[in-house]
Amino acid sequence: MTTTVWVPRDAGALALGAEATARALATAAGAGVRLRRNGSRGLYWLEPLVEVECGDGRIAYGPVTARDVPGLLQQGLLRGEAHPLRLGPIEGHPWLASQQRLTFARVGGIDPLDLDAYDQSGGYRGLKRALEIGPAATVKEVLESGLRGRGGAAFPTGIKWQTVLDQPPGQRYIACNADEGDSGTFSDRMLMEGDPFCLIEGMTIAGVAVGATRGFIYLRIEYPHAAEVMATALELARRAGRLGKDVMGSKRDFDIELRLGAGAYICGEETSMLESLEGRRGEIRVRPPLPAEKGLFGAPTVVNNVVTLATVPTVLANGAAAYRDFGQAKSRGTMPLQLAGNVRRGGLIERAFGLTVRELLEDYGGGSATGRPIRAVQIGGPLGAYLPASQFDTPLEYEALSAIGAMLGHGGVVAFDDTVDMLQMAHYAMQFCAHESCGKCTPCRIGSVRGAEALANVARGVDRDANLALVEELCDTMLQASLCGLGGMAPYPVLSALKHFPEDFRPRAPGH
Ligand SMILES: Cc1cc2nc3c(=O)[nH]c(=O)nc-3n(C[C@H](O)[C@H](O)[C@H](O)COP(=O)(O)O)c2cc1C
Ligand code: SF4
Repeated sequence: MTTTVWVPRDAGALALGAEATARALATAAGAGVRLRRNGSRGLYWLEPLVEVECGDGRIAYGPVTARDVPGLLQQGLLRGEAHPLRLGPIEGHPWLASQQRLTFARVGGIDPLDLDAYDQSGGYRGLKRALEIGPAATVKEVLESGLRGRGGAAFPTGIKWQTVLDQPPGQRYIACNADEGDSGTFSDRMLMEGDPFCLIEGMTIAGVAVGATRGFIYLRIEYPHAAEVMATALELARRAGRLGKDVMGSKRDFDIELRLGAGAYICGEETSMLESLEGRRGEIRVRPPLPAEKGLFGAPTVVNNVVTLATVPTVLANGAAAYRDFGQAKSRGTMPLQLAGNVRRGGLIERAFGLTVRELLEDYGGGSATGRPIRAVQIGGPLGAYLPASQFDTPLEYEALSAIGAMLGHGGVVAFDDTVDMLQMAHYAMQFCAHESCGKCTPCRIGSVRGAEALANVARGVDRDANLALVEELCDTMLQASLCGLGGMAPYPVLSALKHFPEDFRPRAPGH
């Protein structure tokens, strides 16, 4: 008898030894095992997470290293039998069962490159519906779903699409932002490695909706595994008639090209990304015109994040109302939160908007990995604000975070315990901005360098008050006068650190 065993090929799982585990299983069990590869389910502290197909579903074991394999096989792994690493049926695991996975519904469940499995699990229902109802109704559906951009700025996706649809006839493009530069974020990568057809379908729906025949995926070069999966999936989609001159027999033309970015944070900003896609240095374009009016090669362009586009198939397949039902206030649907840093259980949690920071840290994260109190979390990447424990009851949704001077961004949440030095973190924010600045505008180019110098002086105890006053003034100028969000948001971590953790900026006793 042959038993099917799943071992993820997701980059996070591979980093934790999944390839060695897969090899050990294939060698030790031989013909008794049919090895299949999936994406990660996002329970990273349990990777490599091995799943065995048994009569009662898929039984998970984890984390399974190559060294664990002989013992596990001996104790009945292939029959799903008891073992200290046995986690039980994976779908019922509380960490997963309590989530509301819409965008990530398939990730970890299927072989990412199995188009039949994609179809059988509801794939391409969204595109079929979009082709049936036509462009205007498709855009309306996206608008009514309340979907907002998951890349960072949270702009309503339907309005962006409508703007492109309303442009005079001519060439239009879909540009997928897969640069995923924010620290502590990995949802784009997980999605592309775990369910690439979902992104391809979402981009195709966008193409059909706004009348674009070409799409580009701008993928960071630091994601070689995602690049490989996406390139293969694109080829498979082309061969199956899901891309090309006659998409699914609709006579609609749409194809996608994969482009690798050279690795600069600023290339994730949409206008910089367009410059880079056109073969130039990643530098901000002054707006207006918006990319939706004059974007790639001067043509109207939809620029959307991977998660935004990968959410569109579920919106179309199940209807705007079904998606809107999730979430609260102006934050509709679900958000794939990425929990990282000093937590016991890091990973991807897709939930309706509204979960509080504390619930995320405690219920999912299980508290800090070091066992010390969590003192601060940074939400929304390197330009996100730091929240102190007194703000941990804030719901993770756009308006609630904005009301306390923070932002959700791409949904990255990084935890720090009480050993963190917030002065160092503020200094790092300015250094990061100085390093990543495209240099086009003075507040960011000069302000970040001076800001880093001033904070270094504070750390050395040199003219503390004058330097802190200078930092505040620089932050004000950067906030008000920067050309884009890099300089415009770098003050967030600095000012929040100053506001909530002032004790870290005071003179310290020698040795501290
Ligand atoms: C400095 C900077 C870096 C950014 N990096 C990314 C990124 O890596 N990925 C992304 O999707 N959006 C990023 N954005 C946001 C994009 O400019 C843009 O808002 C987004 O791609 C639009 O897609 P959405 O509406 O689907 O979110 C960044 C913005 C700024 C200011
Ligand atoms: S804020 Fe910084 S990154 Fe943005 S345009 Fe100005 S110099 Fe460039």
